[in-house]
Amino acid sequence: MSIPANTIRKLYDLFPRVPDSIELLFFRNPARNPRKILTRILPSEAKDILDICAGSGASAMPIAAAFPKAKLTCIDASEGMLGVFQKRLARTELHNITLHKMSAEHLQLPDGAFDAALISLVLHELSESDITGILSEAKRVLRPTGKLYLTEWDPPEHGWYRKVKFRILQMNEPPTFPGFIFQDLKPYMERHGFRVEREIKCDYSRILICGKEHGE
Ligand SMILES: C[S@@+](CC[C@H](N)C(=O)[O-])C[C@H]1O[C@@H](n2cnc3c(N)ncnc32)[C@H](O)[C@@H]1O
Repeated sequence: MSIPANTIRKLYDLFPRVPDSIELLFFRNPARNPRKILTRILPSEAKDILDICAGSGASAMPIAAAFPKAKLTCIDASEGMLGVFQKRLARTELHNITLHKMSAEHLQLPDGAFDAALISLVLHELSESDITGILSEAKRVLRPTGKLYLTEWDPPEHGWYRKVKFRILQMNEPPTFPGFIFQDLKPYMERHGFRVEREIKCDYSRILICGKEHGE
């Protein structure tokens, strides 16, 4: 059973600050925090970066600070999440981020316009048809050599406390969570036209760096 995408979006509109708890509960270690790791692995020459389903900017803001010459385009379907993002942005000196209310399955953005696209902690809560639409759009807007940086939850291998914490997270996620998280994402991404070039283990999560198949 999957929760309709519209219902999930309404929940984000109603409770836009709930995802903040993730930062405190799961990403406290700076060395293994996926947001911080992204700032270290994105190519320094990346000029145009797209954050798909950017939420309240937890990934985008540190990247914008680390890459002041890059332009970050951030899209999300939820006005509530974008409102929180906008308020946070107003408290910074960052001028290289633009926010757009947009559906990730129908990006109103030109073909081949981005060096890097991020999709962070989103796909596990969506239906297969939504994921297909989003990945197809990500592929379309990336340059031939552009890369997709997919951050997703990853169950801890060691430590009963970490495993219990992850189980509690899973209990609070939509029913699509285990099917997506516990699969081998390499063949999955290949079926969606991406080649996984590198996987980086982070706290409770991993980042897959994916190139476009055949550099189309
Ligand atoms: C769990 S939050 C993750 C936010 C952010 N990427 C992060 O890592 O913190 C999921 C976000 O995806 C957005 N979202 C879900 N489906 C979407 C869609 N089809 N189009 C655009 N945004 C979507 C939600 O509004 C929400 O802000």
